[in-house]
Amino acid sequence: MSRVEVLKQPDESWWKEAVVYQIYPRSFNDSDGDGVGDIPGITEKVEYLDSLGVDVVWLCPVYDSPNHDNGYDIRDYRSILDEFGTMADWEALLDALHARDIRLIMDLVVNHTSNEHDWFQRSRQRDGEYEDYYIWRDGSPDEPPNNWESVFGGPAWTYDDDRKQWYLHLFDENQPDLNWRNSDVREDIKEMITWWLDKGIDGFRMDAINFISKTDGLPDGDLDEQLVGHQHYAHGPHIHDYLQEIYDDTLANYDAMTVAEMGGTSIPQAAEYLVEGQSGLDMVFQFNHMSVDEGSDGQWTLDEWGEWDLTEFKEIVTDAQGELATTFWDALFLGNHDLPRIVSRFGDDGAYHEESAKLIATFLLTLRGTPYIYQGEEFGMTNVEFDSLNQIDDVMTIGKVEELFETGSIDSFEEARGLVNYWSRDHARTPMQWSDAPNAGFTDREPWLEVNDNYHDINAETALADEDSIWHHYRSLIDLRHEMDTLVYGTYELLLPDHEQLYAYIRTLDEEQLLVVLNWSDEPAMFRTGIETNDTEVLLSNYESSPDSPLEREFRPYEAVVYRL
Ligand code: NOJ
Repeated sequence: MSRVEVLKQPDESWWKEAVVYQIYPRSFNDSDGDGVGDIPGITEKVEYLDSLGVDVVWLCPVYDSPNHDNGYDIRDYRSILDEFGTMADWEALLDALHARDIRLIMDLVVNHTSNEHDWFQRSRQRDGEYEDYYIWRDGSPDEPPNNWESVFGGPAWTYDDDRKQWYLHLFDENQPDLNWRNSDVREDIKEMITWWLDKGIDGFRMDAINFISKTDGLPDGDLDEQLVGHQHYAHGPHIHDYLQEIYDDTLANYDAMTVAEMGGTSIPQAAEYLVEGQSGLDMVFQFNHMSVDEGSDGQWTLDEWGEWDLTEFKEIVTDAQGELATTFWDALFLGNHDLPRIVSRFGDDGAYHEESAKLIATFLLTLRGTPYIYQGEEFGMTNVEFDSLNQIDDVMTIGKVEELFETGSIDSFEEARGLVNYWSRDHARTPMQWSDAPNAGFTDREPWLEVNDNYHDINAETALADEDSIWHHYRSLIDLRHEMDTLVYGTYELLLPDHEQLYAYIRTLDEEQLLVVLNWSDEPAMFRTGIETNDTEVLLSNYESSPDSPLEREFRPYEAVVYRL
């Protein structure tokens, strides 16, 4: 692939013009019949990705791992998990993607490693230079060094009987946090980053990267924080220095994109990372818009979830479309491997499955920023119904439910059923539904996680064969984005901020104006703006016939139209 791009304006970049497709390898495609997706399975589907028209693949971790958190606990950064294949398989995938002009970004998980990583094994033995690779503290075995809570539930500390000290883990106990204050740790990480960049990858999605710097002295967190300790480990004192160092010593020498995952980050905070020369990041995944349906204490609050209000959602998205997307650049997403399926969460996976999935696609692909599509969204995969904890693989769901039991908040799974069925990360991890064949064509054997039984109707093969399908709508939107600079670089202006059903905005670049009207509800809604136009043209609609004009008319349930004004 040619690394030299002729850019039309100085602030244009390939990653701003790209549509990214996220792959969760365990659930994507099993080529060798062991029930687990693998790298050759992805290579088999490169043609599929190309036909959808995506420009970049973000590959979730494929590194060697004991899989307590499905690869986000890395045992060896430079080798491929056996179940997924070999390094030669990975190289073949990279070549196959590049041959079709699709770039590849890898997941960079460096807030923590697996406790089986050689560095941790040596650290727990106090082995020479590795002694301070992790965050160790003295203390009696019954009292953790501070009150910080793990993101996955329970305390963020585990006592290690070998070293007779506590170690910090912001996630699972099998994921000890690296000590970024130690310059040897940073050197090792930079060498590893360079090693992957030299293999020809096109960038990184940086996992939990806002957690790498912790407050000096690791003080107790305020008890009224949603996650106790968060104030002391998110956006810590040296975070910008560390990111700048990584950028200067590695990424600055390559034409690579970066997108940093930053939970619990406000829009202004996210923007701070994008200031040039401050941390070298291109985009931030911030999650403000993902909190609209959370309870007041965050995601895992009993009895409070699922309600959301379009006006609040519009306000948050419009904030991000302001400074974050206009001065800098935004990362556009509604789903990923940690979140419920978007059509079940923000649309209607029953009566208006098709219309609402297409509406959500229209939204994602017509905002300012780089859109990220999560596998299966392109043909409307939905949530499943979990009847017991035995059906759950996700370490976070299990940790959160255990915490509810331990704190006496619940006595049985039934009391948490609704909560689990709303938030479980396994909704996104059920195998890709390729076809109507047994196991949805994902594998010949028993899949590692149950297939959603709606695969007979909802699958890629059926969607490809139907020109009006959700899949073809995605394809058309991607084409439109590729053809129209206005969809990429145009400004964003919100109309009707207080309308409770309609989400409408105008994208403008030079003389061109595009209007997007989304009726984000299952009732008709009257669109009335007073915009004066002589002739308008429908570029794309999710209903068979949406009239070019008049603009002011009743929009049908989940109708989504892109007009040229
Ligand atoms: C965020 C990742 O997206 C998630 O899957 C993982 O469990 C945590 N970071 C910890 O690495």
